[in-house]
Amino acid sequence: MAASGNEFGKGEFEGKRALVTGGTRGIGAAVVRRLLEAGAQVLTTARSQTGTVPEGAAFVAADVRTQEGARAIADAAREALGGVDVLVHNAGGARPHKGALAIPEDEWQDALELNFLAAVRLDALLAPGMRERRSGAIVHVSSAAVPAAIPQFLHYEAAKAALENYSRGLAAELAPAGVRVNTVSPGRVETPGGEATREQWARLDPSPGPGTTTPLGRDGRPDDIADAVLFLASERASWLTGSNLFVDGGEFPRG
Ligand SMILES: NC(=O)c1ccc[n+]([C@@H]2O[C@H](COP(=O)([O-])OP(=O)(O)OC[C@H]3O[C@@H](n4cnc5c(N)ncnc54)[C@H](OP(=O)(O)O)[C@@H]3O)[C@@H](O)[C@H]2O)c1
Repeated sequence: MAASGNEFGKGEFEGKRALVTGGTRGIGAAVVRRLLEAGAQVLTTARSQTGTVPEGAAFVAADVRTQEGARAIADAAREALGGVDVLVHNAGGARPHKGALAIPEDEWQDALELNFLAAVRLDALLAPGMRERRSGAIVHVSSAAVPAAIPQFLHYEAAKAALENYSRGLAAELAPAGVRVNTVSPGRVETPGGEATREQWARLDPSPGPGTTTPLGRDGRPDDIADAVLFLASERASWLTGSNLFVDGGEFPRG
């Protein structure tokens, strides 16, 4: 597709090898499409192909919540791409409960595996290669709701908060090697996962959550987040590391 308007230019990611977790739906699929349009070679993952793998991307089925899943993804990346220059940790999600004290032990564990440890494990396998090559960009997808600490989502938000803290520390460690690590924090985005979560939340708590839309007057689109991810992964952000970019239509004010 030709470069136009606010899209990243064809060729901007030419020669780059990108791995995007959770690329069969929603935000991840938009990131994969945008990277392909900009010339990257892309491998994406999900537990199964029930979603759609964007045309042109390689795919590996793996559960990011396990050590075996992380190894399978890293092996597939070496096989399909030969290495990874851009690593986007997007797979994640939330299942709300009645309140913080109603969140069962296994859901705490699951939230930590999916939204935090998955990234730690995959980084441990793939970031050393970036450090050796003295180049690379890692983007973690968190959530703009983290500072709000909403009780029904505390397992998810605590896991994402850990991800943000870890992301800053990893950025400091890898900066001298020229590897950048940044976070994108989306607000309410129209995706299958986002819609399902908000429906579950509305059933648990019919009083409105933090706003039924955003100050900018609409919910986010997957491409709104994909553009932020591509910016942070691109050379345009070559002096940016350890940052957390909120893309939420102004929904969650920050100090
Ligand atoms: N949408 C929002 O409003 C919103 C707001 C804030 C933050 N976020 C964050 O943005 C990211 C993407 O969200 P989304 O709304 O686009 O999600 P989504 O529509 O549910 O898509 C999630 C993707 O991740 C994959 N996935 C889920 N669990 C997985 C697992 N255990 N192992 C491997 N792959 C897995 C899914 O495929 P399978 O199910 O087939 O595995 C799918 O491809 C998440 O980290 C989420 O926390 C979203």
